[in-house]
Amino acid sequence: MHRPDPHSFYESSQPKTRRLRLKLGVDFGRKRIEGEATLEFGDAVQGELDLDTKGLEILSAKVPGQGPIPWSLGEEDAILGRRLRLTLPADTREVSVQYLTSPEAMALQWLDPAQTEGKQAPFLFSQCQQIHARTLVPCQDTPVVRVSYQAEVTVPEGLTAVMSAGPAGDAPAGPGRHAFRFAMPQPIPTYLLALAVGRLESRDLSPRSRVWAEPETVASAAWEFAGVEDMIVKAEGLFGAYPWDRYDMLVLPPSFPYGGMENPRMTFLTPTLLAGDRSLVDVVAHELAHSWTGNLVTNASMEHFWLNEGFTVWAERRILRILHGTEAEALGWAMGQNALEESLDRFKDEPHLTVLRLHLEGIDPDDAFSSIPYEKGARLVAALEREVGEERFHRFLRDYMDAFRFTSITTEQFCTFVEQQLPGALAAVGADAYLHQPGLPETAPVFRSGQLDRLSALAERWAEGGRPTPDQIGAWTPAELLVYLQKLPRQVTQADCAWLDQHLALMGRGNYEILVEWLSLAAAADYEPAFPRIREVLMKVGRMKYLRPLYGALGGHARTRALAREIFAAASPGYHGLSRRVVQGVLEKYPA
Ligand code: BES
Ligand code: ZN
Repeated sequence: MHRPDPHSFYESSQPKTRRLRLKLGVDFGRKRIEGEATLEFGDAVQGELDLDTKGLEILSAKVPGQGPIPWSLGEEDAILGRRLRLTLPADTREVSVQYLTSPEAMALQWLDPAQTEGKQAPFLFSQCQQIHARTLVPCQDTPVVRVSYQAEVTVPEGLTAVMSAGPAGDAPAGPGRHAFRFAMPQPIPTYLLALAVGRLESRDLSPRSRVWAEPETVASAAWEFAGVEDMIVKAEGLFGAYPWDRYDMLVLPPSFPYGGMENPRMTFLTPTLLAGDRSLVDVVAHELAHSWTGNLVTNASMEHFWLNEGFTVWAERRILRILHGTEAEALGWAMGQNALEESLDRFKDEPHLTVLRLHLEGIDPDDAFSSIPYEKGARLVAALEREVGEERFHRFLRDYMDAFRFTSITTEQFCTFVEQQLPGALAAVGADAYLHQPGLPETAPVFRSGQLDRLSALAERWAEGGRPTPDQIGAWTPAELLVYLQKLPRQVTQADCAWLDQHLALMGRGNYEILVEWLSLAAAADYEPAFPRIREVLMKVGRMKYLRPLYGALGGHARTRALAREIFAAASPGYHGLSRRVVQGVLEKYPA
């Protein structure tokens, strides 16, 4: 017996699910989904089958056409949930489980109408990565197992359902209900199962791409993401033909806890990307790149998460270079460096979480999450590229994608493949230090540009009175302004804040990266004029990337700590469970 993934009850000696058929009845009143999951094995199988569940109420299990079968739930594990053990009779080709999700299911956030843009109808969305699919569907919830799926989702009439799959028709389904059908023919890891239900409209952006959003935001979303087809073409140049047929996007309500989630055929995006100037579309480049690096070739478990995110960040920056040039790319790496240093600092007492090849037995993958697999990982990929040259690396990438298409691999499999294709390259870049040593190796590639050097030099002179001129400020792109702000000292005075706000017009920024960077500086300075804006942002937005630094920066003064606690008390019922946990962790670290 062998459990290859520390975050799943999956037993590798047992049959693998090949295909899932889902029937999901969405009940907004009770905040529950009534589900039936049918697992198909492809062959005739028998014996024990262990599935992952968390918070699911299991009603029955049966072999269709044959009748009920024995099942039992194991002890609750705080991270894994409960093992559902089914006993399959001889010749079983498929098995079905009837169940109810819990109103607290971590994969699901149920929003009241007031939490949406239109304020007219409730909204539901899922977020299954890392290990939350088991709160939505009983399944082998490990990326080692890939499944194709089909689903029928029944929702209140007037609402629309979308999934990480292609649409396969819809029809009325009894009084006041409507059913949407979906098909995902390619095999995906369960963390890419995704569902959203709400008042939704769409706009076509190209023959293979459209954006979905609430009617109130769909026009601005279509404008913001109009360049997506160009990105798809550029990404195809790197990795080969787009493998998932359509690339659609969904803009969620502001409580969505991430910037983007690469759900295949339907990327989920935070509405904070709608800056009004297309300055945040690097997140779309990132999620699109996952269509290859991740969705096509993914990590075998969360211990190899860097293979997923590190490659994707590298690809995102490469797309940025093709679209906007090397200066823009260098700024992207600089922002990444900033995030990396912040994460290394946060984990300074947990160095085992700063290696790329993680060991996560007994550790919740959401607690291990940081920018390290992203940025340290991307630097390892960039180092390999520099070592062998762009052309050879490009060919290597194509071979890598071909060799591991639609599979989930370990760091060790990756290294074996690199050693075959690019002998000596791993040793030459000191890959072992990235994979197994904490921190960032000193030999890691550095990305510089003239503009980046100028911005750094200017920010370094802040304390001695160096200030940008109105001409400089006027010429900055949003990325340049952001890098400048990130390079300022973390502790500035209230007079400095007043200067910054006045000269850079920061309080009214629609670009959330800039706004939150500014508000974090202001919070750390106990700068009272920023408090109303801080409150507004924290009451509205649930993206963890913004909550963590902003609540963190509020920890420095008694008055700002009180403000943070008061805001959190009011805001937390509207936060996603994941976001709530992150903020609680930040508040617990405040001095008493
Ligand atoms: N797959 C991630 C989001 C994620 C990671 C969800 C881990 C759950 C667990 C997604 O691709 C991502 O990295 N999003 C980033 C965007 C980015 C440009 C780095 C985000 O949400 O900020
Ligand atoms: Zn990603």
